[in-house]
Amino acid sequence: MKHNIESNPSTPGKFKMDKSSYNNRLRLHSYIPKLAFWSLVFLGLLYIFFYKSPPALSDLSRRSLRTSSYGGPNFSQKVKASAKITLRNGKSILVTGAAGFVGSHVSTALKRRGDGVVGLDNFNDYYDPSLKRARQAHLERAGVYIVEGDINDVVLLKKLFDIVPFTHVMHLAAQAGVRYAMVNPGSYVHSNIAGLVSVLEVCKNANPQPAIVWASSSSVYGLNSNVPFSERDRTDQPASLYAATKKAGEEIAHTYNHIYGLSLTGLRFFTVYGPWGRPDMAYFFFSRDILKGKSIPIFEAANHGNVARDFTYIEDIVKGCLAALDTSKKSTGTGGKKKGPAQLRVYNLGNTSPVPVSDLVSILEKLLKKKAKRLVMKLPRNGDVQFTHANISLAQQELGYKPVTDLQTGLRKFVQWYLSYYGNGKKSSQ
Ligand SMILES: NC(=O)c1ccc[n+]([C@@H]2O[C@H](COP(=O)([O-])OP(=O)(O)OC[C@H]3O[C@@H](n4cnc5c(N)ncnc54)[C@H](O)[C@@H]3O)[C@@H](O)[C@H]2O)c1
Repeated sequence: MKHNIESNPSTPGKFKMDKSSYNNRLRLHSYIPKLAFWSLVFLGLLYIFFYKSPPALSDLSRRSLRTSSYGGPNFSQKVKASAKITLRNGKSILVTGAAGFVGSHVSTALKRRGDGVVGLDNFNDYYDPSLKRARQAHLERAGVYIVEGDINDVVLLKKLFDIVPFTHVMHLAAQAGVRYAMVNPGSYVHSNIAGLVSVLEVCKNANPQPAIVWASSSSVYGLNSNVPFSERDRTDQPASLYAATKKAGEEIAHTYNHIYGLSLTGLRFFTVYGPWGRPDMAYFFFSRDILKGKSIPIFEAANHGNVARDFTYIEDIVKGCLAALDTSKKSTGTGGKKKGPAQLRVYNLGNTSPVPVSDLVSILEKLLKKKAKRLVMKLPRNGDVQFTHANISLAQQELGYKPVTDLQTGLRKFVQWYLSYYGNGKKSSQ
């Protein structure tokens, strides 16, 4: 039997309409006003949705736009007060990641010397956010306001540039940590790639364009085996997703410099440590676990090879960051267009003296007055490299960078802070 589609109506309504053309016309007449009414309602809703709501970039952006007082009624005043410059020829600097380890130290140092500083941080819970809140409280006392928001929130960033014509951006916000990339890879793409592009987009459109100094990482050297690592060495063999996103950041920086004339300086930090540090880093959780009497994993490479790091003390890193800001030249673009070649730089900021991790533990044992339970293990293939070692001659020549703190001295300051912050180790970090 031939199958006739029309004899098999898909809806009961269609079946009825086929019954008589007279009925059909009659119904059509009664439908027209209803159809017109609902069409109008529908168009009205579309109008409200597309024209009355703000140009959406994300839900976050939409929320932030609704009021002109993002962050409360005195938002603009708080931002302006924080950005106030008290130094002659001082700078106005937006510091992203200001509630983070490096960001909080850099913000304090800038404010102390009289620059205007506004912080931005999303206070995420990659590690204990109460530590970020404590850093925030510290900064507030120093006169630095941290805006709570995400670097992907372009509307918020634009608003900040409307309030303050920042001369510089110190971009430190990022998803840090090598191993966590195997747990939450998306967070690295969100903050280190998409977030960086958001920041650069807003900077490129700002008038005047700010100069940008941002944190890359020693991890870009990946499997490079030339020691010490020089800025001229290859960086196309990352060993972790974190490293790959930092390397991508360096290429993105090149693009924005090339097309839009943004002045960009990337700083490759080498294992930064010190007071107010990051609880996910070995020196920090080793201290906690030694005090708790828990065993600590000490990795060794093939053939019992040492795993070593070029540990760099936070105050030395801060000096390098300030020197990079002070030597940065102006961006050359206006109205989103390049007007001439702009500065593009990359520097290693390390200590130039790698220390085996087992030596780090021996120093901690002395300072904490407690023996560690060492658990020697093979270095897993999860992104960590066997050693890092910085050649810092370029930063020395061009930034006057000169690290002065050895690991013993730096760890003593860290342990002092740790014991006082966590109540002599009684209240411990998570
Ligand atoms: N500490 C090191 O040893 C080291 C080494 C190499 C590179 N770096 C880089 O230096 C920078 C600072 O590192 P840190 O050790 O201070 O890390 P951190 O995690 O303490 O600080 C980063 C801060 O950025 C914030 N942040 C993350 N994503 C954000 C987002 N999308 N929007 C707004 N804020 C966001 C976090 O809440 C955090 O407070 C990072 O770019 C990091 O990758 C650090």
